Amino acid sequence: TVVSVKQALAGTPGEGSEVTVRGWVRTRRDSKAGLSFVHISDGSCFAPIQAVVPADLPNYENEVQRLTSGASVIVTGTLVTSQGKGQGFEIQAAKVEVPGFVDDPETYPIQPKQHSMEFLREVAHLRPRTNLFGAVTRMRHTVMMAIHRFLTEQGFYWINTPIITTSDAEGAGDMFRLSTLDLANLPRDDKGAIDFRKDFFGREAFLTVSGQLNVEAYCLAMSKVYTFGPTFRAENSNTARHLAEFWMVEPEIAFADLNDNADLAEAFLKSIFRTVLDERQDDMAFFAERVHPEAITRLQAFVDAPFERIQYTDAIEILKKSGKKFEFPVAWGVDLQTEHERYLVEEHVGRPVVVMNYPEEIKAFYMRLNDDGKTVAAMDVLAPGIGEIIGGAQREERLDRLDARMQQFGLDPETYGWYRDLRRYGTVPHAGFGLGFERLLCYICGIANIRDAIPYPRVAGSAEF
Ligand code: 4AD
Ligand code: MG
Repeated sequence: TVVSVKQALAGTPGEGSEVTVRGWVRTRRDSKAGLSFVHISDGSCFAPIQAVVPADLPNYENEVQRLTSGASVIVTGTLVTSQGKGQGFEIQAAKVEVPGFVDDPETYPIQPKQHSMEFLREVAHLRPRTNLFGAVTRMRHTVMMAIHRFLTEQGFYWINTPIITTSDAEGAGDMFRLSTLDLANLPRDDKGAIDFRKDFFGREAFLTVSGQLNVEAYCLAMSKVYTFGPTFRAENSNTARHLAEFWMVEPEIAFADLNDNADLAEAFLKSIFRTVLDERQDDMAFFAERVHPEAITRLQAFVDAPFERIQYTDAIEILKKSGKKFEFPVAWGVDLQTEHERYLVEEHVGRPVVVMNYPEEIKAFYMRLNDDGKTVAAMDVLAPGIGEIIGGAQREERLDRLDARMQQFGLDPETYGWYRDLRRYGTVPHAGFGLGFERLLCYICGIANIRDAIPYPRVAGSAEF
């Protein structure tokens, strides 16, 4: 029977049975006693399995002894309890097939040693073969599934919102414009000049920055919905927290206000972390040992601690009274910078913080104006060690106020006609937020750079692979 490395390590289907495992060689060590120990990974779990290969196999000299890191193997043999330090089962090999050797072992990029993260980004197609990226890859899947499971259990529907769009969901102008390669049929304006803006079959179109506006429409029919997919930002910020292409999960709830939204965000994050601690113990142990010493303890603390809710206005007072010298001066009306967020979360509160009700000028047009006329019902969830992980708001459900804010932001009401309709036909208070998936993953795994939380990172100056 063919089994995964994970199954074999756990002794499935039983001590003494004949099994076949298929995977890639991590290491090979030959003993003087005429045996080789080959460690094999197939991605199914953190640990490799050991195959003990006797020298009397017919292909021992010309194949087994040529096995190097990265070669693919199919090993059939008997499952036996491992003599080694408490590591489950191993395989007493009776047959070793080699579908593919490594052409030039000396120059194979993934050697069995620790590589720098910068180097591994240059070999993004091979980095899943490392311990670290194997663990990140399993974690990415587990977290995605935890998100779908939590929302499904809470009665949400997953809505697939479009990637090609004409509206700027954040009104921030950070969109990539689509263009065509059809040089013969480039769009022309009235005077016959090429008009690169009209490239989507005669219209201007962009890659979406957020599925929020589209998902709001479904919220006002289905009550609890979310969109979860890739989003794109043309902000050219070369930081460890920004990608040009990242995944975002955006739940949206009807008949809900900002407090309901914060409640959902808290329950959501805690549920994800509980799942991770429960289901990915082998990978979490590795992250804690090799990547971030507090990887496990801080997730546990997160799950146990009630989030602190702070009004933006109070946050500004706290920062002013801190006696800290910030690079960006603090005053009511400024957006919180990373250094401010870090002080609030790490030094002042020491737990996750939800900052609520920001000045209206610094937040998006769709956010609901509060009765004070100066703030909007926005919220950011800030986590120790990472900063903003969630951004959300109660939406402006009143047409007149929405129109006023769109005008203030210079947005064309015609482009947003369908969005305005939602306020004309059965409007209700509703709210939602966006959770940056890669920022979340960085936090869980303890990795410092967001480029290592997505298989193929897209940032300014890098789009190969
Ligand atoms: O705060 P943002 O811009 O909010 C929205 O897009 C709303 N439409 C969400 C909503 O209310 N439905 O983005 C939400 C989150 C941020 O908190 C951050 O975690 C992540 O998305 N994010 C990025 N992650 C990686 N690279 C970037 N360039 C990011 N920009 C935002
Ligand atoms: Mg934000």
